Amino acid sequence: MNIKITKTNSPKPHPDPSVLGFGKYFTDHMFTMDYAADKGWFNPEIIPFGKFLMHPASTVFHYGAEVFEGMKAYRRQDGKIQLFRPLENAKRMNLSAQRLCLPTVPEEDFIKILNALISLDEAWTPSAAGTSLYLRPFLFGNDESLGVHPVQNARFMLIASPVGSYYKEGLNPVRILVEDQDVRAVKGGTGYTKCGGNYAASLRAGKRAQDEGYAQALWLDGIERKYIEEVGAMNVMFKIKGQIITPELSGSVLPGITRMSCIELLQQKGYTVSQRKISIDELISALENGSLEEAWGTGTAAVVASIGTLGYKGKQYTVGGGKIGKTTQELYDTLTGIQWGTLPDTFKWTQLIK
Ligand code: PLP
Ligand code: COI
Repeated sequence: MNIKITKTNSPKPHPDPSVLGFGKYFTDHMFTMDYAADKGWFNPEIIPFGKFLMHPASTVFHYGAEVFEGMKAYRRQDGKIQLFRPLENAKRMNLSAQRLCLPTVPEEDFIKILNALISLDEAWTPSAAGTSLYLRPFLFGNDESLGVHPVQNARFMLIASPVGSYYKEGLNPVRILVEDQDVRAVKGGTGYTKCGGNYAASLRAGKRAQDEGYAQALWLDGIERKYIEEVGAMNVMFKIKGQIITPELSGSVLPGITRMSCIELLQQKGYTVSQRKISIDELISALENGSLEEAWGTGTAAVVASIGTLGYKGKQYTVGGGKIGKTTQELYDTLTGIQWGTLPDTFKWTQLIK
């Protein structure tokens, strides 16, 4: 794959690291490439970041054929930039694409595209503590006709955004509301994929949570509305009587790369991690009898986010005195240490940008 590069004539000023937040600023360039069933992928290009033309009948507008990924590039203290487990994102995007009958992108091309855009926009990976360059690969059906069928034409794009903290709370514990009306996904559906439709379907519960002063909703399973699945933009873990419990990957939960990494880190630290069904009743009784010691979410954007309050059926429960717990902090420090290159990467998870 030879990527054609057209540089911008008007590079933008870089925002002050203190105002970054999440996903509001974009680098100077973006990657785009098209797919046609009879040609495969063609026209891989990096072009100036900006708006682009679309056909009004494009599949993505009507039937939501879209999948995406979320990953980060981190600026190390020696100035070099590194990615965290990028191959896992490549694999997951292709798994999502297969579920939606979209074409897959060869893993080596996915990695090459990331390297090309990050290197060209090198100065956009911020260096202030807690900041990174968020990468958003996305892939959508782009047939210019209204029939409902597996797409013949698609587009893959990559945009990049310097970011700080995902939650306005920063590192402070977040408030999470257990959603007991809407469901996010069921087994056999698209819950295990990172497709745009999952997020569209989650917005109403997210809004309800925010209107009640919570950061995000916690989903229960779609059939019995009994078992905990995940939070809006992160997987979830609980520490009960010294043991770590995280919902098993049921087919309706996103297989988080941060989740997988945290499980390995916790096991290395000597914790027992059990991936199993955990019901909301079990969680509430652990809250009531004081055996729930800590709760946190894991995700690329959210990193390791301490959960300080859980709302359920009109009641508010405080977790761990509303403060960040010891294991949560330890996990955050280890994971971010590896990601930003201040701790040794014994798992070989990071990959330098060439
Ligand atoms: N669950 C949902 C619904 C998400 O949007 C995310 C974020 O990507 C996660 C879990 C965590 O996944 P990862 O750790 O791969 O970022
Ligand atoms: C991520 O953590 O990368 C996400 O995609 C979460 C959200 C912004 C959709």
